Amino acid sequence: MKRLAMIGCERIGSYHLDHLLQMDGRVELAGFCDLVPEKAELFRRRAGSGRAFTDFRQMYDEVRPDMVFICVPPFAHGDIEDETIRRGIHFFVEKPVSLDEAFARRTADRVKKAGLITAVGFQCRYSSLIEPLKAFLAGNEVRLVEASRVNGVPEMPWWPYKNKSGGMLVESAIHQLDLIRWLFDEPAAVCTFGEGGALRRQGYDIDEVTTTIIRFRGGALGVMSAGCYATEGASFDSKITFSAGEKRAVHRIIETLDFHEKDEDAEGGIFVTKGDGVLSKKTKTVTLRQENDAGLDCDRTFVEAVLSGDASAIRCDYADGVKSLIFALACNRSAETGVPVEVAY
Ligand SMILES: NC(=O)c1ccc[n+]([C@@H]2O[C@H](COP(=O)([O-])OP(=O)(O)OC[C@H]3O[C@@H](n4cnc5c(N)ncnc54)[C@H](O)[C@@H]3O)[C@@H](O)[C@H]2O)c1
Repeated sequence: MKRLAMIGCERIGSYHLDHLLQMDGRVELAGFCDLVPEKAELFRRRAGSGRAFTDFRQMYDEVRPDMVFICVPPFAHGDIEDETIRRGIHFFVEKPVSLDEAFARRTADRVKKAGLITAVGFQCRYSSLIEPLKAFLAGNEVRLVEASRVNGVPEMPWWPYKNKSGGMLVESAIHQLDLIRWLFDEPAAVCTFGEGGALRRQGYDIDEVTTTIIRFRGGALGVMSAGCYATEGASFDSKITFSAGEKRAVHRIIETLDFHEKDEDAEGGIFVTKGDGVLSKKTKTVTLRQENDAGLDCDRTFVEAVLSGDASAIRCDYADGVKSLIFALACNRSAETGVPVEVAY
């Protein structure tokens, strides 16, 4: 049986372990590594198999895994990927794949040369809402994309520091940026404004709120607003709106997909929204709900790809994850310099 190891045994690691435990023993959960020994040991006990380590090289020497889930914070990438590729181990890595664009580009080249199977934790790509959204995008000329993601500052100590997390756009709103470029179009240029606000006054260096204008390669425009100013569940948001001439799709990520369109049966039906955002009676809304567990499907797809040697069902491999990182880092650069930045892969 193929052996699987994990590096990083905390929050997102726990999410993946839950999924791996639902895979009916398709792989041997053989090694768990965390800098904090108790965390690795807790995962070993939850799995009911394998061994716990604090050094991933020692784990690789002793467990010899076929595949690994890399679930470490954004700043901790580097040696882990270098060693994983050197040893020819297939890997799943959490987003953002790195904070260092040059390293990420080099790593993508090395992965390709080594012929490894890779996947990135953009699980939103596996939602059951993606196919109907793709059909909408194929059938309608979208002119404007409006996305937002607002949350609070998570409790991880590394999160409010730019050199550790990359900030809100790179660490969190990258899910939206990834979906937009994967589903709709690649960005040609971005212009971002950021405000440090209360976070800056508390001594942190990330922006509390940003707004980005995106020029897409095909000529459409987009706006992405991201914030980590929300408290106690207020003002939380995570959605993307794709607007065409007569239809609009509103995707609440891994939740619902609304299609607003002209109601042909309504007398004199026209597609308008009232000024306060309430839809006109002449507009028909169809709502779809997500039916699958996108995170489970994302992880299962990677594991099955390694077992079969066929990576064609993986929706985001390492090289593609690097493009989403480049998009997010370009926004950061624009916010820092105050000028638009071209996005080139
Ligand atoms: N796909 C998603 O929706 C999603 C959701 C949450 C987090 N994430 C991503 O997952 C990553 C980790 O986030 P988290 O919330 O789990 O962070 P965390 O801080 O809760 O956990 C990271 C763990 O990695 C361990 N670690 C760090 N360096 C290590 C090393 N060299 N060897 C072994 N262990 C090491 C730490 O000790 C810690 O236990 C981040 O990049 C985050 O953006 C993705």
